[in-house]
Amino acid sequence: MAVSIKSEREIELMRESCKILAEVHAKLGEAIKPGISTGEIDALGEKLIRSYGCVPNFLHYNGYPASICVSVNDEVVHGIPSRDRILAEGDIVSLDAGLIYKGYHSDAARTYPVGKVSEEAAQLIEVTRQSFFEGIKYAKEGCHLYDISNAIDAYCKRFGYGVVRDLVGHGIGTSLHEDPQIPNFRQWKRGIKLRAGMTLAIEPMINMGTYEVVWLDDDWTVVTADGSLSAHYENTVLITQGEPEILTLPVR
Ligand code: MF3
Ligand code: CO
Repeated sequence: MAVSIKSEREIELMRESCKILAEVHAKLGEAIKPGISTGEIDALGEKLIRSYGCVPNFLHYNGYPASICVSVNDEVVHGIPSRDRILAEGDIVSLDAGLIYKGYHSDAARTYPVGKVSEEAAQLIEVTRQSFFEGIKYAKEGCHLYDISNAIDAYCKRFGYGVVRDLVGHGIGTSLHEDPQIPNFRQWKRGIKLRAGMTLAIEPMINMGTYEVVWLDDDWTVVTADGSLSAHYENTVLITQGEPEILTLPVR
């Protein structure tokens, strides 16, 4: 399928959808502390999203049972929130959230330390975040899609981390997942040429150990195969002729 180019009107709607999601994420981030359950985080996220008149796009997506994916420690993505899963000092927790505003989807993820975490865990979180920014140096018209993948991979490899291969970023717009798929690991082809008006969810998922992941029996939770910690950082980005617009960051 062809990659959609958003019109000016659609870009405005994407901007608004993503701006609301940035506010939801900021409030969720403030709620992260030892003692909160992942179920409470999900309930708060859903309440916040609906308070803006928006709809959580993850809820019931392919049967996913919650609004916010909450993934702790060795959980890479798609952790299912539960009132019985209480965050403890030293954990790291990834929150992946998305919403629909007037038919337009937004998608973003952050990994947070819970209280004080090890230096190794803090570095994993920071490198994962920075890898996104290394990748989007190439997120502009005229560059090729896999320039982004290669930059993320090269940066993370310097730290000996495993770049998850089984899950990828994606185009986004009137659907949560549109073409193209955006791998975070080294590609040998160049990929499509990027054009102004594309909106992409770029989302490195980075393991402290190897890149291999496995699915738990709940059919959702993805964990590292070696039990090492994993972090996730994602923004919805607008491609322009110059610097990309990172739509899901606060106040631009
Ligand atoms: N950000 C994830 C993605 O882009 C979350 C969607 S999984 C869901 O695929 F099923 F929970 F919606
Ligand atoms: Co996504």
